[in-house]
Amino acid sequence: MTRKLQPGRLVAATHNKGKVAELKDLFEPLGFEVVSAVDLDLDEPEETELTFEGNALIKARAAALATGAPALSDDSGLEVTALGGMPGVHTAIWAGEPRDFYVAMEKVERELNAIEATDRSAKFVSCLAVAWPDGHEVTFRGEVHGHLTWPPRGEMGFGYDPVFVPVGHEVTFAELEPAQKHAMSHRAVAFDKLKKALL
Ligand code: IMP
Repeated sequence: MTRKLQPGRLVAATHNKGKVAELKDLFEPLGFEVVSAVDLDLDEPEETELTFEGNALIKARAAALATGAPALSDDSGLEVTALGGMPGVHTAIWAGEPRDFYVAMEKVERELNAIEATDRSAKFVSCLAVAWPDGHEVTFRGEVHGHLTWPPRGEMGFGYDPVFVPVGHEVTFAELEPAQKHAMSHRAVAFDKLKKALL
């Protein structure tokens, strides 16, 4: 039988405030108390895998072991078709240190211009991982397709939201109310799968 996730304390194994906010919106209505890796002062493990699933598991495992509680992580990124799926698992790194997502969005735009790309399609991918302290673990993947626009538009959301226009819309993720984004995002798709399997 599939192991279920019992409502209670759930560690959000991320230091990204935007992700913590989205994970809280998704899980708190279901009776979970979401505590983030920042609240718990947990170390941020190095993401050494080449897949979203692998990196999500690194983060969830580390937080479950450090806290003795089930941990949830998200590894996500932007895959741009004309760039062969880049930045992909390197999406956060393209923002440099300290993270500046305007720099990252400009870099994507520069790369597209350098190859005179006419195909501006892209997708966001999210892989949610849940790890328990005894080593049990599962992952769920969600995707949302769209295209990239330039210049960036909108003040809401985070990361690459100001340049991503989801299919069927004319506005960017950063111009949508959070509730609208959360209803259709890659994370929401992965979350629906998680809910069916674990809740
Ligand atoms: P990581 O999963 O921590 O390696 O970072 C993934 C990066 O992808 C984030 O830092 C964001 O820049 C980007 N990203 C993931 N999900 C979203 C989203 O919903 N909107 C905008 N950017 C996102």
